[in-house]
Amino acid sequence: MTPLEDRAHAIRAQGNLPRHVAVIMDGNGRWAERRGQPRIFGHRAGMKSVRAVIEAAGDLGIEALTLYAFSKENWRRPAPEVQALMGLLRRYMKSEREELVQRGARVEAIGDLDQLEPSAREELDRLIEATSGCERLRVTLALSYGGRAEIVAAARRIARAAVAGELDPDALDEAGFARFLYSPHLPDPDLLVRTSGEMRISNFLLWQIAYAELYVTETLWPDFDRAAFFEAIEDYQSRERRFGKVMA
Ligand code: IPE
Ligand code: IPE
Ligand code: MG
Repeated sequence: MTPLEDRAHAIRAQGNLPRHVAVIMDGNGRWAERRGQPRIFGHRAGMKSVRAVIEAAGDLGIEALTLYAFSKENWRRPAPEVQALMGLLRRYMKSEREELVQRGARVEAIGDLDQLEPSAREELDRLIEATSGCERLRVTLALSYGGRAEIVAAARRIARAAVAGELDPDALDEAGFARFLYSPHLPDPDLLVRTSGEMRISNFLLWQIAYAELYVTETLWPDFDRAAFFEAIEDYQSRERRFGKVMA
């Protein structure tokens, strides 16, 4: 076995794996700038990290991976960067489709998907459809995603249900609210990873990360590989999660 296979084996043997890992894939621009290259060069390089993390999560037997690929706020970047990102996304979804099916990765998406360019949206729908029977790993792409927008969208649907007499406001509890969010079938993330050192959430999964363990690494996203993912998981395995209680 290679050292990395050994490491994967040890992680699996220890158990106590996160069921759901969410990742803020940050630092592509800085990675490119450090090489005197345009930012899009970094976005392109980041694609191989996406592949590495999906492979590593699948190999460890993690159930769900949610990847923050494009935020609602990212639409405010210069148009050429937004266009280039949409182009990359479209190409990624097409070129990785077969590989994702082979790996048993079921792809879904959350966010304001109607904002995507029609050609990107079509490729996304094709990818979702092609992987819909896969059961090994659930990969959720957060695209044109904003945590507050998700909560407002849920509140709007709840209000409509209440007005229609289908929901009793006094009976609404946290679990009932969560059923109106984008991905009600996923467990909350146990671990939230952010690359490139920024100590902020940037409007990602605000509701769902209430008790997630946070892991921030200085590594820039294009340098985040299988070993870096393993390191995040090992760190998680050493944590004591208390959920507000006192441990015996
Ligand atoms: C993350 O890298 C990718 C997206 C937000 C789409 P950035 O583009 O934010 O890179 P930095 O943070 O400027 O280095
Ligand atoms: C968060 O990164 C969004 C994604 C990784 C898709 P940003 O680079 O957009 O976040 P800020 O602007 O540093 O908070
Ligand atoms: Mg950034």
